[in-house]
Amino acid sequence: EPLPFDATIKALKNAVHPSLLDAQVGIVCGSGLSTLADSLRDVVLVPYDELPGFGNSTVAGHKSALAFGRLGDGDGISVVVMLGRFHPYEGHPLATVVYPIRVMAKLGVKHIIITNAAGSLNPEIPVGTIVVIRDHIALPNLTGPLNPLLGPRTSPNHARFVPLSDAYSIPLRRMAFMSADKMGWNRSWLAEGTYAWVSGPTYETPAEGRFLRAAGADVVGMSTVPEVVAARDEGMEVLVLSLATNAVVIPQTYRSIREEVDMLTSGQQVERPPTPTVSHEEVLHIGKEKAELMRLLVEDIVNSISQL
Ligand code: 6GU
Repeated sequence: EPLPFDATIKALKNAVHPSLLDAQVGIVCGSGLSTLADSLRDVVLVPYDELPGFGNSTVAGHKSALAFGRLGDGDGISVVVMLGRFHPYEGHPLATVVYPIRVMAKLGVKHIIITNAAGSLNPEIPVGTIVVIRDHIALPNLTGPLNPLLGPRTSPNHARFVPLSDAYSIPLRRMAFMSADKMGWNRSWLAEGTYAWVSGPTYETPAEGRFLRAAGADVVGMSTVPEVVAARDEGMEVLVLSLATNAVVIPQTYRSIREEVDMLTSGQQVERPPTPTVSHEEVLHIGKEKAELMRLLVEDIVNSISQL
């Protein structure tokens, strides 16, 4: 069945004044990062369940609404913010995952800032670092046949084969580092890296973490790449900011079980360090701790975009 874009736009027109609806920048808030919306002025919230075509986002730490408002110095510029997103692991088809991105495109959004919480694969990216994404890995054999552009072309005006070598806007990435410098940030607070997309909802095994690191990824997460692909399909400029919320690849060496059993058999004591595991609570906790930094960065980048 066709996607209900006309009904969605109609519902938005009923809920939001035209001066706010013509958003210039789109923002997607990742886990624990919805305080980005706190700095909006003249804010209008539209719950996802009032919008045809939108799913329900079911993950703890995610709200479920579009926020329209003004952001930045002076009068600010009109922005639309997704408070919570849709993930394939919730059972949403990719067309639903990227539906809000396409709605933003229809509203006229030309620049999109996508945030997420991700696991760090790179020992040089400690927990709490914000990572400006420069590239991604989403090979079909890693994620199953998951690509939001599978199937008929989006429209006759859209490309059949969308290039992704230039997916992550260089001007927007420069803006991120210029903002960090302007705000006097420690250089370690903002890094650059490559995002590996996995379906979840399981976190990576240690071997999968090493695999992704060896493949050239710096962070890993369960979101963002479908939205990036749809945003590029719609011709938007894309910036992705990942918050490293936990370390996936932990340089720790364990004795083999063979060795442990041999030690036990010969009457020796065996001490084995506990295997670390990641929890969603930990991810949300770091998100909360760093949400203010992310908010300041996004607001300053929006200011820079408004000067373009
Ligand atoms: Cl460790 N893995 C994945 N796939 N997503 C995450 C994460 C880890 N931490 C936050 N999001």
